Amino acid sequence: MGNNLVRAAICGTGSYLPENRLNNSDLEEMVETSDDWISSRTGIRSRRIAGAGEITSVLATRAARNALDASGIAADEIGLIIVATITASSAMPSCACRVQRDIGAGNAVAFDIGAACSGFVFALDMAEKYIRANPAIKALVIGAETLSNRVDWNDRNTCVLFGDGAGACVLAGADDGRGILAGRLYSDGSLGELLHLTPLAGSNPYLGDSPPAGAGVDFSLLGRGNGEGSYIKMAGREVFKNAVRAMEEVVEKVLADLGLSGDDIALLIPHQANIRILENLAGRLGGDPGKIYINVDKYGNTSAASIAIALDEAARGGRIKEGDLVMLCAFGGGFTWGAQVIRW
Ligand code: UT7
Repeated sequence: MGNNLVRAAICGTGSYLPENRLNNSDLEEMVETSDDWISSRTGIRSRRIAGAGEITSVLATRAARNALDASGIAADEIGLIIVATITASSAMPSCACRVQRDIGAGNAVAFDIGAACSGFVFALDMAEKYIRANPAIKALVIGAETLSNRVDWNDRNTCVLFGDGAGACVLAGADDGRGILAGRLYSDGSLGELLHLTPLAGSNPYLGDSPPAGAGVDFSLLGRGNGEGSYIKMAGREVFKNAVRAMEEVVEKVLADLGLSGDDIALLIPHQANIRILENLAGRLGGDPGKIYINVDKYGNTSAASIAIALDEAARGGRIKEGDLVMLCAFGGGFTWGAQVIRW
């Protein structure tokens, strides 16, 4: 390594999507909805659903193997594994420890982080800081979810939106100008109830009975735990407004940090939640829709996996060239949000 600044560079990406497809027409048979409503309000046409035995760590492991193959780095060279997920099959052992075991990465420290749909961007930020502190570390960062286990399939407000999948990347120190150039992360716990997982029956509820004071939103929109499982509840319109505002703001701040304009970005890869949010972001990059990566139509909202899957597709599909500036941008429950700019 020379004397230049060492950054965390992405040297391989991978993803894995379960084979089972659930199309809008299938959902028409399950709840009171229509292909027309789903595709016009969200842009989603299909989503993947994990099959028998495909727990989150299985998806994560397959994505990780693909990323390792692409990077040419062996599993035992990996020093750090971070899995961003809100759907680990167990809190203990973590999804990351299961991946470590299954890929044979015996030299890695492994742990999960939870930042909902922003999880992959949060995990990348953490790996970047490890690598900046010790440029010899090679990291595996994974976003993986099986949200189909956390969806109430009777609730048309949410069940049409989410899907399963995993994406991964391998990062290593580079002193040739490639790597993560800048990023910003944010959280606002005061609005957490607008998008949450209901507590499991018998568990100590994470949410209080009274809405946080002064948040200025209608919490009666949301249900409470139904005493059976833990399911996603979302006040869609409120989340939509917050997501648009937060993503626009963080994109502009990170561009300003680097003295860049939207024109300098070759490809923006936002969290894939809703086509209307993505189209709005296109306006921030000079209005060129070709600069926004979109796959929400195929996979729906895969939470922490969504940016990781999109990044892998974009890299493998030739949408990113060496030297390009790629921007990632996320918004999710918590609330959490953030963005990064990466020189490819
Ligand atoms: O991943 C983290 C970030 N998540 C997001 O960014 C998601 C943000 N939110 C959204 O994408 C949108 O708010 C949704 C797609 C969830 C909802 O779209 P919307 O245009 O905001 O609709 P709405 O929630 O305001 O509902 C409009 C109507 C309602 O009927 P009424 O009350 O106006 O009679 C809903 O009951 O649409 C109804 N509706 C449906 N109709 C048919 C809700 N879900 C469905 C459905 N099929 N699946």
